[in-house]
Amino acid sequence: MCGIIAAASTRNVGKLLVQGLHKMEYRGYDSAGIALHQHDSIAHLRTLGKVQLLEDKMIAEKPKSKLGIAHTRWATHGEPSESNAHPHKSQDKVYIVHNGIIENYVELRESLIEDGYEFSSQTDSELIAHLLDLYLNQGSSMLDAMFLAKAKLEGAYAIAAIDLADDQKLVVARNKSPLLIGLGTDEIFAASDPLAIGQLTNEFIFLEDGDVAEISAEAYEIRDKDQNTVTRDITNIDISNQATSKGDYKHFMEKEIYEQPQAVLNTVDGRVTSDDVLDNIFGLGSTELFAKVKRIQIVACGTSLHAGRVTANWLSAIAELPCQIDYASEYRYKNPHVDKNSLLITISQSGETADTLAALRYANEKDYLGSVTICNVPTSALARESDFALFTNAGPEIGVASTKAFTTQLAGLMLLTLALAKSRDLNPRLRGRIVKGLRSLPDVITKTLELKDEILKISPNLASKDNALFLGRGIFYPIAKEGALKLKEISYIHAEAYPAGELKHGPLALIDEDMPVVALAPESEIAEKLVSNLEEVKARGGTLYVFADPSVSIDVNEGALITMPQCDFLLTPIVYTIPLQILSYEVALLRGTDIDQPRNLAKSVTVE
Ligand code: M6R
Repeated sequence: MCGIIAAASTRNVGKLLVQGLHKMEYRGYDSAGIALHQHDSIAHLRTLGKVQLLEDKMIAEKPKSKLGIAHTRWATHGEPSESNAHPHKSQDKVYIVHNGIIENYVELRESLIEDGYEFSSQTDSELIAHLLDLYLNQGSSMLDAMFLAKAKLEGAYAIAAIDLADDQKLVVARNKSPLLIGLGTDEIFAASDPLAIGQLTNEFIFLEDGDVAEISAEAYEIRDKDQNTVTRDITNIDISNQATSKGDYKHFMEKEIYEQPQAVLNTVDGRVTSDDVLDNIFGLGSTELFAKVKRIQIVACGTSLHAGRVTANWLSAIAELPCQIDYASEYRYKNPHVDKNSLLITISQSGETADTLAALRYANEKDYLGSVTICNVPTSALARESDFALFTNAGPEIGVASTKAFTTQLAGLMLLTLALAKSRDLNPRLRGRIVKGLRSLPDVITKTLELKDEILKISPNLASKDNALFLGRGIFYPIAKEGALKLKEISYIHAEAYPAGELKHGPLALIDEDMPVVALAPESEIAEKLVSNLEEVKARGGTLYVFADPSVSIDVNEGALITMPQCDFLLTPIVYTIPLQILSYEVALLRGTDIDQPRNLAKSVTVE
């Protein structure tokens, strides 16, 4: 989604700001822009499309400036276009960039039009520039104007603003949209994503909701929602170039798929002994709290929700706990009943997904025992606002399609399942068996990645089709859903997932020679039933691509039967995810889509 970067420096900042925008391209965007203070004017460049086009414009125009703001926009209000791209301006004096949504924009826009302001975009953001201009004209400083504007704004926002009258300072504000300050030498930055300025500094200050900050090259001042000057902690994070570059891979998604043995190792390492999970790995006091848990509620979105669906099976089988799972975007609206001794679990790669965060905040008002998040970004809002957390340590995930984030979430969620079982003294032998399985998982994933050549043989067959079905049963149904999501997300092939037993209740009507069917057939008590479901597909002309345990036998005619490496049955969902990721990637590669930044999608969905 939208990305903000701003800088006040003693050197020229144009290039730094554009580099920062490049670093945020992975988030998904449709246009980009920059405003650079040039003492007696402000250079204002915007382009529809890639940041590279903005960079080309900068190279042609060579604006020089030591103070500026820049933005990548992901359209919410108003189509993707140059006039809707940020920065937006008022009277050629005040320039702003904004992430989030201003919910009361219609009424504010009308009142500003009555005040004589003309709008040149369809966005909900432009009014912020006019509001600031209004208060500046009434004699306020930019800092005070921002507080006055904030008092009017409803919704989520991260804002950065500059004023023609001041070539030294910029002002930023945060409410429910991520924003941080980065401290450099003789320069200070602000950004919505640490990756944007990770090349420039290792010292970050994460602003809190309600904060407004004034930033110059040498100093910054943060005021909280009550306008009191406050000190916020400085966090040191080393975001190395290696983590954010593709290396020898064609795409970040490819790199992230092949990083999974190490990523899963990073999740499990230091959290288990040889036969059990360690105490309090979710934070001090977590083991004690877990002992009281009688029921689980999971909320998440997209791929993270699929991880939650697998976990619901694990919780029942290993920790003997009932689990309710909801789309984070739906949870608040169903008037949920919270049983006594319920634990809330949120799952999120970014930790900034607006729906998941809103669900957590809603749940915090309910009678939960506590909240736990499984998250990849320790500095995220979800991490900060949850009672307990386990960080997946997967490293930055840049590809919009989640890969290593999903498998590491599953590893983390298995640790959570084991911790809940242990705190209630349940199934010690089973726990020991699974811990062994978790420790050998990186090797099994490495072997699974070696299936690439076999997958390459089948990818052209899917790449030439418009639809695909994914089948799995039990704990593999969420994996089939994840496989279908991956394929549709990056190749734009319409894909659906079904528990195989449901086929004859409707979807079987879709089967013909143009409907490839991808099935997951691990060794399990329902393998035989699954094979019968697959026979039904074959009998109707469907082509089968089956990922199966060596013990499963099925004749797939012109399709393919790919034999999977073996591991503990309860961990096989993690392993069977890998070939589906490779398949989607290779199919998308053949179809020539924008794999790392698929159309219409954003990496971090910070609007509800
Ligand atoms: O950062 P989160 O895990 O909270 O994101 C949730 C979804 O937006 C995300 O998983 C999305 O579905 C992925 N792009 C799927 O690959």
